[in-house]
Amino acid sequence: MGKVELAVMTRAQCHALYQGWENDPALYLEAAEYRPYVYDAATVDRYFDARQTPDRVLFAVLLDGRPIGEVQLKAINRDRRECALSIHLQNDAVKGWGYGTQAERLAVRYAFDRLAMLAVNADAVITNTRSQHVLEKAGFRLVREDVGFRYYRVEQ
Ligand SMILES: CC(C)(COP(=O)(O)OP(=O)(O)OC[C@H]1O[C@@H](n2cnc3c(N)ncnc32)[C@H](O)[C@@H]1OP(=O)(O)O)[C@@H](O)C(=O)NCCC(=O)NCCS
Repeated sequence: MGKVELAVMTRAQCHALYQGWENDPALYLEAAEYRPYVYDAATVDRYFDARQTPDRVLFAVLLDGRPIGEVQLKAINRDRRECALSIHLQNDAVKGWGYGTQAERLAVRYAFDRLAMLAVNADAVITNTRSQHVLEKAGFRLVREDVGFRYYRVEQ
């Protein structure tokens, strides 16, 4: 297993990532909501631009310098000192190798050490047991459950 790094995503990395992107059916509670991903440069530009806000950091997950996924720290609240994490790896070829666990651990460290957060929240569709297991491996604990979702949190 290689070692991954997190880097604040550049526009070029964002395009490289989405050129090889596959949506993961595990993200959808209703299978009928799933749509295959189709790359479109203008859509990726809009996606990238919309994420350059003060309450969010968009990271590339890099393996040997190549983007294999994205992690976001979002809803960054500097008064309450908490934020939320989301993650999506590029496609099935890079899932199941431990990269997601490494990336989540790095993002949590970044939130605590660089953003001075005291807590990081995350949620997962209830059927997405892989994501829930990986959140727990990265130190998150289950705090709440409601229709369709499980909510997790890790505190410094
Ligand atoms: C969720 C995701 C980030 C995990 O990253 P990953 O690199 O694939 O996961 P890892 O290889 O680090 O770890 C996978 C772990 O889940 C376990 N696992 C695999 N399938 C599982 C399943 N269906 N149910 C429970 N655990 C499962 C593996 O055994 C492994 O645990 P172990 O190390 O204790 O054996 C990645 O798969 C992904 O991007 N999925 C699509 C998007 C997504 O679901 N994002 C999360 C939204 S909340």
